[in-house]
Amino acid sequence: MPYKIPAFSDVFFAPVAGYSDVGFRTLCARYGAGLTFTEMVSAKALHHNNGTTESLLVVGKEERACGVQLFGHEADIIAEAVASDRLKNFPIIDINMGCPVPKIVNNGEGSALMKTPEKIYEIVKAAVDAAGKRPVSVKMRAGFFAGEKNAVECALAAQEGGASMVTVHGRTREQYYAGSADLGIIGEVKSALDIPVCGNGDVTDRTSYLKMKDTGAGFVMVARAAFGRPYIFAEILEKPYEFDIKEAIFEHISWLSHLPERVVVNSMKKHVSFYVKGRPGHKNLKTEIFAAENMAQLLCAIEKI
Ligand SMILES: Cc1cc2nc3c(=O)[nH]c(=O)nc-3n(C[C@H](O)[C@H](O)[C@H](O)COP(=O)(O)O)c2cc1C
Repeated sequence: MPYKIPAFSDVFFAPVAGYSDVGFRTLCARYGAGLTFTEMVSAKALHHNNGTTESLLVVGKEERACGVQLFGHEADIIAEAVASDRLKNFPIIDINMGCPVPKIVNNGEGSALMKTPEKIYEIVKAAVDAAGKRPVSVKMRAGFFAGEKNAVECALAAQEGGASMVTVHGRTREQYYAGSADLGIIGEVKSALDIPVCGNGDVTDRTSYLKMKDTGAGFVMVARAAFGRPYIFAEILEKPYEFDIKEAIFEHISWLSHLPERVVVNSMKKHVSFYVKGRPGHKNLKTEIFAAENMAQLLCAIEKI
């Protein structure tokens, strides 16, 4: 029996490398994201006790539901990570089968797994067996090759392995982020599966969220449109909200105190450039933000917003 997805609303913030940190996830959850995820974490790195990877597993006191996303290609290494104490506080474990980056794909990981549905079954089954009563989900693409959208076959393999949810980003690996997401394939996966489907790709507002829901997907996942706009979840859910940009940025930074200053400054430069996007004087602000060499200079630039 698949386990229930621990979601507080039907719209989620996606796992996004470099953006899904504990600070940004906390803000997204506060504005209504029903579930958030860590960025992809290497199961192999956990196996080798890599310290940098460990910092990706920090969860904030105010996060209600945050899943961990793992990537890897060896079922036993993934199962070991899932069973480890370090992941015991995550209420859901997601497995990355969508990453298009060559370094990952050439290692047989991420979207490369969509070339071998039997491997998907094997990995999901091992993860489910190791997860105890926690749900395991899979995030995949429409397919690997542009001309061969095999998400239905891959999603069925995940379901057969015991997955509790499949997220489908409606682009193939060959497309990367080009073109638009194919909602048709998400509808096909939904029709073929008994477990919940989460639709992903190009959701930027309530209208595109409703369009995604029309595929039959029970859940919707937002990635890029949330950058700098954690309140997008309130807008999508039509909930009233207030947003003070400086307060949000300072709070965001405060959640990253476990990280070295250099890491926080570099990460916040990207975030802040999205927070200020479209605001008066944002071009000059961006220049100043990217020139900051330390936290004091970054805070000084933020004060000018
Ligand atoms: C910079 C960047 C990093 C990403 N990192 C991850 C990741 O770690 N794991 C993952 O499953 N997807 C990752 N994705 C894909 C997103 O989760 C999402 O599937 C994709 O951006 C499509 O959704 P969107 O149209 O709402 O942006 C990443 C996307 C971007 C742009």
